Amino acid sequence: MPVDRKPEFFRGAQLKVGIIGCGYVGLPLALRFAEAGHKVTGFDTDPAKIAMLNAGRTYIEHISQTKIQQYVNSRHFSATTDFSKLKEVDAILICVPTPLDERREPDLSYVKQTAESITPHLQKGHLVVLESTTYPGTTEELVLPILEANGMRCPIASGAASEDIPCDFFLAFSPEREDPGNKQFGLAQIPKVVGGLNPPSGRAAQALYGQVVSRVIPVSSTRAAEMAKLLENIFRCVNIAMVNELKLLSLRMGIDIWEVIDAASTKPFGFMPFYPGPGLGGHCIPVDPFYLSWKAREYDFATRFIELAGEINTSMPYHIVDAIGAALNKQKKSLNGAKILILGVAYKKDVDDLRESPTLKIMQLLQERGAHLDYNDPYFAQLHRMRHYNYEGMKSVPLSAQIFGSYDCTVIATDHSVYDYNAIVDGSKLVVDTRNATRRVMRNRDRIVLC
Ligand SMILES: NC(=O)c1ccc[n+]([C@@H]2O[C@H](COP(=O)([O-])OP(=O)(O)OC[C@H]3O[C@@H](n4cnc5c(N)ncnc54)[C@H](O)[C@@H]3O)[C@@H](O)[C@H]2O)c1
Repeated sequence: MPVDRKPEFFRGAQLKVGIIGCGYVGLPLALRFAEAGHKVTGFDTDPAKIAMLNAGRTYIEHISQTKIQQYVNSRHFSATTDFSKLKEVDAILICVPTPLDERREPDLSYVKQTAESITPHLQKGHLVVLESTTYPGTTEELVLPILEANGMRCPIASGAASEDIPCDFFLAFSPEREDPGNKQFGLAQIPKVVGGLNPPSGRAAQALYGQVVSRVIPVSSTRAAEMAKLLENIFRCVNIAMVNELKLLSLRMGIDIWEVIDAASTKPFGFMPFYPGPGLGGHCIPVDPFYLSWKAREYDFATRFIELAGEINTSMPYHIVDAIGAALNKQKKSLNGAKILILGVAYKKDVDDLRESPTLKIMQLLQERGAHLDYNDPYFAQLHRMRHYNYEGMKSVPLSAQIFGSYDCTVIATDHSVYDYNAIVDGSKLVVDTRNATRRVMRNRDRIVLC
């Protein structure tokens, strides 16, 4: 029989929600809570972002400036670098980066620093939720001890006997499933997995997210919730690697892999299409699986699928560059000295996100082999110095019907929707298409090399 329990966290009133990290994940989440009528404070260490938000401006292409303005004006949303204001909120959601370090090991410094900045301001009854993607165990092994440093307690417990275990504050993990630029599934429509450190924490987090998403999926622990997110991303990483490998074989066998995927996708059960491409990009899929392989080592366990998928996906930019060289060779030209126009540097179509973009690697390899490069990307007017690459000073060249003819080869690296693929093929001497973006182009197909 369900227990008639007094709600320990959300009692139906307006909530004050603090979101730490106003990036691709934190900002949409903040706007969703504001939209649902709650008061949201965004916390970030970057003063430039805070100033822009408070002025009602966006710095992420697909996040609506109108919405930011609306909620700033209605005082449902404000942003600050002053972490002492955490005292004033009911719930604190952590959405800071979880990258890999130089040795490709988890870099949890942002999460650690964030937990340390919460501790002095932690209040009785606060709910803290980690949303950053990470390995199972992070919430209880890293975040909990830091939050408990001032003497408040949130015991690790599960099962019926701990249903009403006393907690000074509540702690949970709830992974973010944001797909930037996806117009079909916004935050409100995507079910949210929630795992508490103990049953009261789980209930508190469910009550919170129940305010902003259509469905909350409770799991028994923070570790299960952390693992669920990794399973989702490893599933994608492994399947993309598999289809990339099958693409390489299909090319060798003279089979069109995209036609094959379309055919296989007609099976109404047991199949889900994944598409080949120039390699993995973005902040999640190339990074997150390695959080698990790192943790697995603690258990003397080798995550072979992850390693193999990483190997295949990492090799894709090399394959693309070889394919460009071979295509030029067929035209009696060498890669060394060739003029090449790269279309799309973002890691996927229609986003202004460069993180881990395979195009950056392709450009580096092409330059190493002596090619002269220009690029166009409607989302990046210019490039800058990055951790592994230096394209400082490179500017996106404006496109015109005439421009393509001045290059030996046009490479479609990212298939942005704004590109006119007919015009690209008509104007180019040679098109290397890494995304099958030219599938609907009927004229001059002999100029296209799919790879
Ligand atoms: N981008 C995605 O599509 C996506 C999807 C699902 C999950 N995630 C996960 O969500 C987390 C956040 O990713 P993101 O893409 O939003 O990152 P992001 O880089 O876009 O945003 C992170 C923000 O945190 C701020 N920040 C860094 N350190 C801080 C600190 N100590 N205190 C306060 N703010 C700080 C940064 O200035 C930045 O604004 C990561 O763990 C990522 O793996 C991302």
